[in-house]
Amino acid sequence: MKSAIVVAGTDTDVGKTVFAAALVATLDGYYWKPVQAGIDGETDAEIVRRLSGLPAERVLPEVYRLTTAASPHLAAERDGVEIDFEGLANAPVFAQERAVVIEGAGGLLVPLTRNLLQIELFARWGAPVVLVASTRLGTINHSLLSVEALKRRRIPLLGVAFVGEENADSERTITEMGGVSHLGRLPMLDPLDAGLLRDAFADRFNAADFLAPVPP
Ligand SMILES: Nc1ncnc2c1ncn2[C@@H]1O[C@H](COP(=O)(O)OP(=O)(O)OP(=O)(O)O)[C@@H](O)[C@H]1O
Ligand SMILES: [Mg+2]
Repeated sequence: MKSAIVVAGTDTDVGKTVFAAALVATLDGYYWKPVQAGIDGETDAEIVRRLSGLPAERVLPEVYRLTTAASPHLAAERDGVEIDFEGLANAPVFAQERAVVIEGAGGLLVPLTRNLLQIELFARWGAPVVLVASTRLGTINHSLLSVEALKRRRIPLLGVAFVGEENADSERTITEMGGVSHLGRLPMLDPLDAGLLRDAFADRFNAADFLAPVPP
């Protein structure tokens, strides 16, 4: 079994997809967004295709493509489907010959069903998590709560990947008080395209950090 890395967020809209595109391009792996809630416009898988330049077959199909941009449990109810937690937990996706970068939906504690949270799926997988956090106001609280939730469930955490303009004190406070690694920070890119994203990632992150075993 090759490595899987879960790209989790402190919230929706923090930059998980953009970060995942950069990571998967660098690792030359597979990308997988098992639960996509909201299919108007470009989906996360389509954005990753565009921003990573991966061949189409390395962007694995979603298991759930839910119509409504809402929490997965509600989006599923609206489409009249129930998310099969066990099915996702036992997905054969890990048996790939390359690293699989898995993007979560929204933040860690979004419900997949009326009684199961997404973080419980991550705990079942046991794969190392990268926590993507914004640098904007409010991030200390969201990030430290997320770190606490991961640690409480003994989910291996590679560290925090920040997205946004530099906020040295927030970044320091989160990593010091959370006791987690600062993996790097992706600045806001303009234009946001595959070339600039790949260069920014190469400058600011160390690919080896994402393949290292996480101490218990
Ligand atoms: N480094 C960046 N430079 C420029 N724009 C960015 C960057 N990171 C994120 N964005 C923009 O911020 C918005 C949110 O980013 P993104 O879609 O990656 O968030 P997300 O955490 O994946 O959201 P979701 O919970 O919907 O999956 C998008 O419009 C994206 O283009
Ligand atoms: Mg996304």
